Amino acid sequence: MRAHVVTYGCQMNEYDTHLVESQLVSLGADLVGSIDEADFVLVNTCAVRGKPVDKVRSLLGDLRRQKHERGLVVGMMGCLAQLEEGQQIARKFEVDVLLGPGSLLDIGAALESNGRFWGLHFKDELHDHIPPAPVGKLQAHLTIMRGCDHHCTYCIVPTTRGPQVSRTPQSILKELDGLLAAGVQEVTLLGQNVNAYGIDQGAKRAGIPSFAQLLRMVGQSGIRRVKFTTSHPMNFTEDVALAMAETPAVCEFVHLPVQSGSNAVLRRMAREYTRETYLEHIAQIRRHMPDAVLATDIIVGFPGETEEDFQATLDLYDAVGYDSAYMFIYSARPGTPSYRHFADLPREVKTERLQRLIVRQKEWSQRRNAGKVGTVQEVLLRGDAHESGFLEGHSRGHHPVVVPKAHGADRAGIYSVRIGHATPHMLYGQILGQGGQPLPELPRHAPEAAAVSSPLTMA
Ligand code: SAH
Ligand code: SF4
Ligand code: F3S
Repeated sequence: MRAHVVTYGCQMNEYDTHLVESQLVSLGADLVGSIDEADFVLVNTCAVRGKPVDKVRSLLGDLRRQKHERGLVVGMMGCLAQLEEGQQIARKFEVDVLLGPGSLLDIGAALESNGRFWGLHFKDELHDHIPPAPVGKLQAHLTIMRGCDHHCTYCIVPTTRGPQVSRTPQSILKELDGLLAAGVQEVTLLGQNVNAYGIDQGAKRAGIPSFAQLLRMVGQSGIRRVKFTTSHPMNFTEDVALAMAETPAVCEFVHLPVQSGSNAVLRRMAREYTRETYLEHIAQIRRHMPDAVLATDIIVGFPGETEEDFQATLDLYDAVGYDSAYMFIYSARPGTPSYRHFADLPREVKTERLQRLIVRQKEWSQRRNAGKVGTVQEVLLRGDAHESGFLEGHSRGHHPVVVPKAHGADRAGIYSVRIGHATPHMLYGQILGQGGQPLPELPRHAPEAAAVSSPLTMA
């Protein structure tokens, strides 16, 4: 079987794709790089907003045609597969195999029987078969918890992913060991509410430590850099800020979605905090980490959001001065309380507010990034940028960074980079050195000689 997995949605879905791909390989499948080469295509879906659902529909329409034309087998997994809406879509597009996010291990049985498997019981065995670490990659994701125990009224995730389940630290550290052995230098711990790790009932019974303790354990494992996403403000305790400040490997980057700056909207969203308590969390983070880089998520046009509510969001944006933000137009999701109880705002109102918010975000990102000009940043360079002669990567604060290749630094790795120029989305710099060492001096004669004897000139 030649299999190909198409992934939509968040990093947790990317991680699950990796898990399921390794299951497919153990079942004897060859993984191929495109739909055209495959005889089994599995679509890993997202249901958080209408747009990713539309994308899945249109891909499944195309795959149904290929199913009839050339006997392609089509599968659907991920968040949409768990929902009634997704199951209707699966029937309409004649999907052969369906796997909910808690049923990834059933892929073999599903393929054998052209079956449908879903359920929200996340089996611990999911992590018994840790897939091989990525080869030659310096960064990796590591899911430490699944599901969500919050009930934000707009959000479908608790329905698709179920209640929160934390992995044991033993299982997490074992996976981390494999990543370290494979040369990974930066790990991002993942969870729908990553900092609520350890507080679910099951975790308490199993004596699982707090997120702050886990951060310290991971930070002391020998990994160079640790990041984590996404945090819920309610679960961002002072302990977490302290663990971050005291553990050098943990990067001073916090992604703390606020969603709205208006207390009336936050209440209707059931976010469990107010604008004031959110700002206290930010102040606490800055007290422990004055240089913390801050990112957020914002939803504009939540039902009933007035111009004053929206102004409160812009005002909160200024009060925090975020380095970056993911901004979304409210999307009414069937099955959520806000879909049932509140009327949607007109499209034009939502789009116009989004545009104004993007202007504010760009101003702040430009200001924050400009403040980095002249500083030295520790940058993980992943490899070639789109333009040849350049490398791209990102800083500890998760800023994308581009540098020209330099003698002695033409490969992926963690380098010191002096920032020379900034735009709202990018920092540009020059490599200074690696691991505290400056770059080697240019040898006087050798490079010219090497350049002349390229294969072309030799021919
Ligand atoms: N657990 C995280 C977020 C997970 S979902 C948290 O609570 O902060 C990722 C983001 O998608 C959310 O932060 C929110 O901004 C956005 N989102 C979720 N549901 C949405 C909806 N119905 N419409 C628009 N954006 C939504
Ligand atoms: Fe969704 Fe809220 Fe849970 Fe985040 S905390 S995943 S927004 S329900
Ligand atoms: Fe989407 Fe599910 Fe992630 S709904 S954002 S893939 S948790």
